[in-house]
Amino acid sequence: MSSAANAVRDWLQARLPLAETQEFASHKTVPVHRFMAIYYLGGMTLFFFIVQVITGILLMLYYRPSANEAFESVEFIMTTVPFGWLIRSLHSWSANLMVYFAFVHLVTVYFTRSYRKPREITWITGCLLLFVAMGFGFSGYLLPWNQLAFFATRVGTDIAGAVPIVGEWALRFLRGGDRVSGGTLSRFYGWHVAILPLITAALLAGHLILVQLQGMSTPESERKSAASRRPMQFFPNFALRDLFGWVLALAVLAGAAALFPWELGEKADPFAPAFADIRPEWYFMFMFETLKLVPGGEIFGIEYEAIPILGFSLLGLLLVLVPFLDPEPTTPGRRRFFNGIGVVGLVYAVGMTAYGYRSLASVWIVVGTALLILALGLATRRTPRSST
Ligand code: HEM
Repeated sequence: MSSAANAVRDWLQARLPLAETQEFASHKTVPVHRFMAIYYLGGMTLFFFIVQVITGILLMLYYRPSANEAFESVEFIMTTVPFGWLIRSLHSWSANLMVYFAFVHLVTVYFTRSYRKPREITWITGCLLLFVAMGFGFSGYLLPWNQLAFFATRVGTDIAGAVPIVGEWALRFLRGGDRVSGGTLSRFYGWHVAILPLITAALLAGHLILVQLQGMSTPESERKSAASRRPMQFFPNFALRDLFGWVLALAVLAGAAALFPWELGEKADPFAPAFADIRPEWYFMFMFETLKLVPGGEIFGIEYEAIPILGFSLLGLLLVLVPFLDPEPTTPGRRRFFNGIGVVGLVYAVGMTAYGYRSLASVWIVVGTALLILALGLATRRTPRSST
């Protein structure tokens, strides 16, 4: 190392706990077993989040959050700003992939029961991160101010309005008034670029610090085999594998963004008749389709529609509380119960999403999920023997 580099290192060393961090990192290991491929899923979600931050900042340079200018500014980004179309396409594709991987990460953490003591807070911050990611999607959907976004937001916020007691307040809070308007757009922009990023930064910091402090958990079924194997060094062995995954992810993301650029559609017209094919983003589809099955009417002054809305809210709360509902030690009955609930929930969510699209896209979702599960299965079939 040159003397200048040495001087910089010494200067930093005297002010930051560099040596301690290096020491900590050199002892960090990852258990080696059949299912260790799932340890890459959180990192993959993180990768897409980083892409979101970078592309989002670039989009902010040209985007204008007002009903008169939003659509035109996105059009400008796509037609005039150098590589603007690509940045917008990367942001939209990466948003979907981030939510997709957050879901897959949650599913694997659930089935391996990695939420148990001492990882309850890691699980809770993870759930909150997923909800926030969905909030990013919901608020970002409106920003291009096109027909689909406008009417989908009207329907989406209407749903919030159906909740008993707080519904009317929630609807006005979300819309910034009675109707979806330019005021809603600036409000959603505020959520999307300031409030949600701040909440995410705090949650993500907590989530990642806890993962570092607690290390990776070993699924119950793999404890014996993991104990008989030498764990893998995090630096550089696991980190390089993580990086390899990120390079692959970047290739897939760039390919998708370049070959299938995100469409803009037509500018929103609040006075036009309701858009024929109103669709939320795919990760809201299973809830949206469920609501569509509910007939109109009310019981004891509560709209029928409110019942599934309250049901989904309760399920969200139960999801957050899973570590407390299923603590260690496992009983065979409880294991079967939680596995059963997990499978039923997953099949319902994927099935209703596919049903909601009733098109080729649904086949893609099912095929994509099946391929991912297959890839995970193949990747975990042969386990490396040592840390090299
Ligand atoms: C933006 C979303 C998220 C990011 C960036 C993220 C990131 C990560 C990373 C990098 C890890 C370490 C590697 C791994 O085990 O995969 C991790 C572990 C973990 N995550 Fe997440 N995560 C996110 C969402 C979630 C969600 C939705 C849950 C579940 C509700 C969750 C629960 C956990 C748990 C319990 C662990 C510890 C796993 C173990 O020790 O085996 N995370 N997360």
